[in-house]
Amino acid sequence: MAPSPREGNPELKDALDENVQLVERTVTRLLPETDLAEAQLYDAMRYGILAGGKRLRPFIVMQSARLFNVDPARAKRVAAAIEMVHSYSLIHDDLPAMDNADMRRGKLSVHKAYDEATAILAGDALLTMAFEILAESDTHEDPRVRCELVAAMAAAAGPQGMVGGQMLDLIGENENFDLGTISRMQRMKTGKLMAFACEAGAILGKASEQQRKALTSYAYDLGLAFQVTDDILDVESDPNTMGKPANQDSQAGKSTFVSTMGKDQARMRAEMLVAQAKRHLHIFEGRAVMLELLADYVLQRRA
Ligand code: IPE
Ligand code: IPE
Ligand code: MG
Ligand code: MG
Ligand code: MG
Repeated sequence: MAPSPREGNPELKDALDENVQLVERTVTRLLPETDLAEAQLYDAMRYGILAGGKRLRPFIVMQSARLFNVDPARAKRVAAAIEMVHSYSLIHDDLPAMDNADMRRGKLSVHKAYDEATAILAGDALLTMAFEILAESDTHEDPRVRCELVAAMAAAAGPQGMVGGQMLDLIGENENFDLGTISRMQRMKTGKLMAFACEAGAILGKASEQQRKALTSYAYDLGLAFQVTDDILDVESDPNTMGKPANQDSQAGKSTFVSTMGKDQARMRAEMLVAQAKRHLHIFEGRAVMLELLADYVLQRRA
């Protein structure tokens, strides 16, 4: 089992633990076991998404939805959809053609537990199923809201977001990016999907433009800080705590904040981003306390 978040504020820890259970239950219901001839695909999807993740993106969805009194039964479907997209991105990230990582979330990565073709298909299926969930009427009665969710998730996950960032990440193995390019790459790789997680609550709750902007700005900075700490943990944490291999980035010659400015400067950058992220939440006058605590947690995390 990969670790669940343990550090920091006890209220946040309880809320994160509860959220892990919610995500496991919701995804299990959306992805039931099957005895069809193609059962291996479903098994690999379940293997890749269930058990082990910190479920931070779903937590952000649930917390942002709460700010606008959105029915949690709806929000949790969006939370599960984002976790599907995130899990697909990790399954493909670990493939030999990408980071070639054998461990993920404290278990063998999907291509090791099954095979490469099954891992590619399981990722594809999680991605497409996520959009199906957003488009279904149980997610929101207003089709315009559903359409907006679909468009925003596509923009966050596609070439202008996560996938584009992953392309830059691979190019950065052979080129020395400057800080501006690294920053753009990390915002695309990680910031955009986190920003969508936060925006999703606002879309579901038909929030004002100002509230929406505040939440996406918060999450965009948080996402970049999160990827900077991921790069720091790659050099200073251990595989058992992280549930994935250490020193992956230096071995692959990746361009990261750590490779460019060193660990200490990278940590200062993350601290600055977290402070900036929290300032965006001021308009909620203390009602977004869990999102504020989550920002602090990003700096304290060891996994
Ligand atoms: C890992 O994400 C990949 C990055 C975007 C840095 P997480 O650290 O959220 O991974 P899980 O979901 O908890 O396994
Ligand atoms: C992956 O970044 C981010 C994704 C969008 C999948 P990394 O390659 O650094 O993530 P880990 O360290 O393998 O979790
Ligand atoms: Mg990678
Ligand atoms: Mg990786
Ligand atoms: Mg990493």
